[in-house]
Amino acid sequence: MGEALELRDAGLTRSIGVSNFLVPHLERLVAETSVVPAVDQIELHPAHQQRDVTEWAGAHGIRIEAWGPLGQGKYDLFGAEPVATAASAHGKTPAQVVLRWHLQKGNIVFPKSVHRARLEENLDVFGFELTDAELTGIDALDPSDGSGRVSAHPDEVN
Ligand SMILES: NC(=O)c1ccc[n+]([C@@H]2O[C@H](COP(=O)([O-])OP(=O)(O)OC[C@H]3O[C@@H](n4cnc5c(N)ncnc54)[C@H](OP(=O)(O)O)[C@@H]3O)[C@@H](O)[C@H]2O)c1
Repeated sequence: MGEALELRDAGLTRSIGVSNFLVPHLERLVAETSVVPAVDQIELHPAHQQRDVTEWAGAHGIRIEAWGPLGQGKYDLFGAEPVATAASAHGKTPAQVVLRWHLQKGNIVFPKSVHRARLEENLDVFGFELTDAELTGIDALDPSDGSGRVSAHPDEVN
């Protein structure tokens, strides 16, 4: 963080972003440096919504950027009933429904694909809107005990 502060103070960068910061990390950052990051990039998808982080970030004006927005393909997100039903209702793919859910929740998304057709599909998510009931149905896919995480806990990574 020291280097980022030096760059900002030298006018070489305007904003500071962080990745994989959970609430205790954000609290410590603000307390020790007074920096409120512009963005926090965290694992976030329907089975792992990290509501404590998103609420804290929202209250402090920090944008959430969801990595693994499609769950990295590590669980059957696309076959989950609320996702599949919304996809049928809107004539969209399950991936588009999940990305639309992110956008309507206020998340920044950057899904990864090595296939051009999927890249184009993942960009085509601005012409429809999920209903409140559809959003609520997808919200309910989080088991709320952290078990929906598909990658390592940030405290367990060097
Ligand atoms: N900050 C961090 O610690 C951190 C950690 C992990 C990842 N990231 C970043 O997060 C970004 C995206 O996350 P991610 O790659 O981990 O996971 P993701 O975007 O949730 O999932 C990628 C997987 O979904 C598949 N996929 C993408 N679009 C699809 C579609 N329309 N239909 C069906 N399958 C689709 C991809 O397969 P195909 O490629 O075969 O299409 C790939 O297997 C990456 O750029 C990565 O660098 C950051």
